[in-house]
Amino acid sequence: MPVKNRFAELLPEITAWRRDFHENPELLFEVHRTAGKVAELLRSFGCDEVVEGIGRTGVVGVIKGKTDTAGRVVGLRADMDALPILEATGLPYASKTPGKMHACGHDGHTAMLLGAAKYLAETRQFDGTAVVIFQPAEEGGGGGREMVADGMMERFGVQEVYGMHNWPGLPVGSFAIREGALMAAADQFEIVVTGKGGHAAKPHETIDTTLVAAHIVVALQSIASRNVDPLKQVVVSTCTFRTESEAHNVIPQTVLLKGTVRTMDPAVQDFVEGRIKAIAENTAAAFGATAAVNYMRGYPVTVNAPDNTAYAIDVAKKVSGQVNPDVAPQMGAEDFSYMLNERPGAYIFLGNGDTAMVHHPAYNFDDNAIPFGASWYAGMVEERMPAA
Ligand code: NI
Repeated sequence: MPVKNRFAELLPEITAWRRDFHENPELLFEVHRTAGKVAELLRSFGCDEVVEGIGRTGVVGVIKGKTDTAGRVVGLRADMDALPILEATGLPYASKTPGKMHACGHDGHTAMLLGAAKYLAETRQFDGTAVVIFQPAEEGGGGGREMVADGMMERFGVQEVYGMHNWPGLPVGSFAIREGALMAAADQFEIVVTGKGGHAAKPHETIDTTLVAAHIVVALQSIASRNVDPLKQVVVSTCTFRTESEAHNVIPQTVLLKGTVRTMDPAVQDFVEGRIKAIAENTAAAFGATAAVNYMRGYPVTVNAPDNTAYAIDVAKKVSGQVNPDVAPQMGAEDFSYMLNERPGAYIFLGNGDTAMVHHPAYNFDDNAIPFGASWYAGMVEERMPAA
């Protein structure tokens, strides 16, 4: 099973869908046009069922195989949302909405899964049911979580689930994956440090909140360097340091710190949360100030199940001669993790060639990757549920 010939034939059509999505990017759950087009196409392919409005604006299509002897159900997932970025590609099909851009290639993911759905609905050479899942709000809204919370897995009887992301820097036509933790958990923290504001020329009459917050920023770096086992992955980044005024002669009353924590292991995640609170509160106390810490859990770790990773590798190897089965984990996060927490499955990277990185204004999805990605999606259904 190399790249399926049908996808070479379908390439102009799939590319046209992709470029249409690219021209019309939508953010978070507001993917109304995109979801509407996805549902319309799925119906035109003859899917047995098309349901809109799952997880607010998600779309699910059901395609039954020629036979169904064992009640098998395989889910395939793509994301539909864009990013709040001003596009700088200069492409003829660049975003028509300034400040919104498909800078993560979700236009490509959606188009490839539509291509796979069209092929599967035409051929139905499998024994069971394929469920194609199009989710909103991957970029921060938790659309995957919302679809799961809406009962999607139970409603459609999904037993295992597979997802894909294009990856700049990997050659087009190649795949990369790893068993276990592939992408990080992404949490956020906010710390409000309160001292005693006053005149900068009378520091002894104040509790200098800027100084206290600066000590907290430095001390937080001891978590990764001194507290967590060096063989475990962790990132602690303080990214915002905001005083109330921009004056050069006012010691502020409060300082707001914001940052992110990335971990690959729930025990490390719990530990880091505890250390941030202890360091902020006790450092502030040492100066006579206070620190209020708000720690917010975000997307969980994306964990590839061992058996499903092996299946994903098998299919990738049939599609491509270049498959890295042990790629380094990434400290970015992915909300497909919510689906993988519900059902065993795997998430794979698809080469996007030597392009700008995702989330960059010059990024573009490479349409030459479409036959590989669509073949992998379709192959996961045909190989996991071979025709009876
Ligand atoms: Ni993405």
